[in-house]
Amino acid sequence: MSPTILVTGGAGFIGSHTCVALAAAGYAPLVLDNFCNSDVRVFERLARIIGSAPRFVEGDVRDRALLDRLFAEQPIAGVIHFAGLKSVGESVSDPLAYYDNNVHGSLVLAAAMEAASVHTLIFSSSATVYGATDRLPIGEGEALQPTNPYGHSKQMVEQALADLQRSDPRWRITLLRYFNPVGAHESGLIGEHPHGKPNNLMPYVSQVAVGLRDKLAVHGGDYPTPDGTGVRDYVHVMDLAEGHVAALRHAERQAGLATLNLGTGRGTSVLEVVKAFERASGRSIAYEIGPRRTGDVPSNWADPALAQATLGWRAQRGIDQMCADSWRWQQANPRGYES
Ligand code: NAD
Ligand code: UD1
Repeated sequence: MSPTILVTGGAGFIGSHTCVALAAAGYAPLVLDNFCNSDVRVFERLARIIGSAPRFVEGDVRDRALLDRLFAEQPIAGVIHFAGLKSVGESVSDPLAYYDNNVHGSLVLAAAMEAASVHTLIFSSSATVYGATDRLPIGEGEALQPTNPYGHSKQMVEQALADLQRSDPRWRITLLRYFNPVGAHESGLIGEHPHGKPNNLMPYVSQVAVGLRDKLAVHGGDYPTPDGTGVRDYVHVMDLAEGHVAALRHAERQAGLATLNLGTGRGTSVLEVVKAFERASGRSIAYEIGPRRTGDVPSNWADPALAQATLGWRAQRGIDQMCADSWRWQQANPRGYES
């Protein structure tokens, strides 16, 4: 029998790719999602990749009665908790929505797990908890100083889960701090499709390449970086997905709390991403260098050594593959799952 893993937010970008990695590793993902930022048609695509669609329940992670029912009825061995809101700008204009969904949602989930004696939890945190730091690469011991409500919500959940683990050594909790997840499954069947105008670089670049947008606005060309544009640690979403499987395996071996960066350890500038996407797509990407975006740091990339030592996990895919896979998805699905 494949162990059942409850995947909250499993219909979303990282969650859907993690369902693929879980199935490949012999786990049975059970998705709980309210579809506030995803599309139910992802399950038809997952069925084509995996061979059968993962089971899913439409519902909210803040619904304690629903969670109690799920834990009572299903033999859930562990939980991967992706469900949450993730837009920095929206979190500034509507902080309560972020504290409610991200913090309250995580607390309701942890309480339901405790009641059901399910003690394995992997939580989606973010490199955004580090805020602005000029010490690179960024190690897990770096001070946490998030600069917006989204980042604060992630830090609060990290703190609550660390305290929970200290209160009861049966807990096996992994806090994964993702750097910049991009790319898509190599089949081109699943990927990221932000609603409206993308905030993040890679979806914007791929929408320019496919002709949905005229040109990329490069947010700043005067940073202290080799070409003046911002440098980030882009990590392929399938590498991230496999990182979650590695974290589950680790939790099976060892109780405790692990806090780990998931990144490649390599920085890539905005213009290097543009060039890599041009190579992958064979299209030219129009861009214009404009002012800096408020809140951006010049450079950030991970020290991924602890994840490698703890999980035996290391990102395998480079920027060219990230762009090639994003492009395959974008070209085949210019309007996401509506295509
Ligand atoms: P996503 O929006 O594609 O996926 C989140 C999923 O959760 C969606 O399917 C959404 O419908 C669902 N959801 C949201 N609130 C819910 C609720 N209350 N109950 C049930 N389902 C709910 O986002 P993603 O990029 O896949 O991110 C997944 C997680 O990783 C999030 O917690 C996010 O904060 C974190 N993260 C993402 C990034 C990134 O750049 N994508 C970086 C760092 C951390
Ligand atoms: C953003 C979020 C961060 C989140 C991360 C997830 C902000 C301030 N930070 O980080 O909290 O964890 O996404 O991936 O929103 N860029 C352009 N033009 C664009 C879009 C981006 O030049 O249209 C540049 C940015 O200035 C940056 C780089 O591309 O240098 C990457 O930007 P983005 O994809 O938004 O990620 P982050 O800024 O790292």
